[in-house]
Amino acid sequence: MKGIIPAAGLGTRLRPLTFTRPKPVLRVAGKPIIVHAIETLQTAGINEIAVIVSDLTRTEIEYTLRSVSGCQITLIDQHEQLGLGHAVGMACEWAAGGDVCVYLGDNLFEFGINSYVEQFNAERPDALIALVEVADPSAFGVARVNQGHIVELVEKPKEPVSNLAVAGAYFFSSRIFQALRDLPPSARGEYEITDAIQRLIREGATVLGQRVQGWWKDTGRPSDLLDANRLLLERLETNIEGQVSGSRLSGRVHLPASSRVLSSKIVGPVMIGEDVVIEDAYIGPFTSIGRGSVIKHAEVEHSVLEAFVRIESVDVRLQDCLIGLRARVSGGRRIPRTLKLTLSDASEVELT
Ligand code: G1P
Repeated sequence: MKGIIPAAGLGTRLRPLTFTRPKPVLRVAGKPIIVHAIETLQTAGINEIAVIVSDLTRTEIEYTLRSVSGCQITLIDQHEQLGLGHAVGMACEWAAGGDVCVYLGDNLFEFGINSYVEQFNAERPDALIALVEVADPSAFGVARVNQGHIVELVEKPKEPVSNLAVAGAYFFSSRIFQALRDLPPSARGEYEITDAIQRLIREGATVLGQRVQGWWKDTGRPSDLLDANRLLLERLETNIEGQVSGSRLSGRVHLPASSRVLSSKIVGPVMIGEDVVIEDAYIGPFTSIGRGSVIKHAEVEHSVLEAFVRIESVDVRLQDCLIGLRARVSGGRRIPRTLKLTLSDASEVELT
C-alpha cells in the first residue's frame, strides 16, 4: 500500500499563522505536522508516499521534508485547488493500480493507522474509512453505518444523519480512481472525495468504516494546534542533556545538549528544541519551544513557539500562545495577569 498526503490547501482557518507558511509545516510538539503524518504512515509500514502540493505550498513543504528519511517521498503538483477528490486524483498514475491510504496531512491519531491497514489487508474492501463520533458532525463528512458497512456518506450536511464523522484516514483499492473520474463538482464547487466514496457505495462496492480508538485531532483552527501539542506532549519522555544551572526542572522535560537553562523553573511536559536559551524564566506545562529561541525574564505556559522566537522582559505570563517563526515579544508591565497571543512569523509585540 502506498500513501497519499494532500497538502495543497491554504489553511485559511489558521490565519494569521498560515499567511507566511502552509499549515503542514507548522510545528506541534517540536515537529512539523506533516512529519507527524509521515511517521504515522511509516509506522503502519507505508514507505512510498506522495505529497500533493500547490504552487504556494511546494517550496516550504519540500524544505521541511528534506530531513525525513526511511521512506520514498514524491511531490505531486496540484496547480488548482479544486478539492480533496481532485487532489487524490492527481496521484492516479503514481499509484499505478495499487492500494492507497489517503492521510490528511493535518490529522493526528493517538494510536496511528495500523489497525486500518490490518483490516484493509485482511478483508480487502474497496474502501475503509476512519470514523469518529463528534459533537458537531455538520463540519465534517458524515457516515451512516450498518453493521460495519457505510451505507451513506455526505460531505458537511446541514442535517447530519448520524454523529459519525469521517476522520482524515481513508484506505482504497484502485477502484477509487475510477470513481473520481468524471465526478461532478459539489454545491461548494469542489471535487469531494466523499462524493467519490458515495459513488462506490451506489455501485455496490464494499465500503467499510472503523471507529477511531483513542484521541483524534484535526488541526484546522489555532486552538486545535494547542490541543494537539498538549496531547502529543502527554507522551513526552524526560531527556535532559543540556546545561542546567541554578534552576528547578520538574515533570517531563526534553532539553537537548545544545540548549541551556539558567536560573529558571520548568514544569513539564515541556519540549525544548536545539540551541535554546532559557534564563530567569518560568516555562509551564504543555509548552514547545522551537530551535534557536531565547526566553529571558519571562513566563510562558501551554504555548507553541516556533523557531528563533525571542521573548524578553515580559512581566505578564504568556499563556495559550502560538508564536510564529522569528517573532518577538518584549517589554512589559504588570497590567493584565496573562496574555494570549497568536502571532504569525516575524511579528513584534512591545508591551510598553
Ligand atoms: C475534510 C473532508 C471531511 C473530513 C475532514 C476530516 O474536510 O472533506 O469529509 O471529515 O477532512 O478532517 P476539511 O477539513 O478539508 O474541510
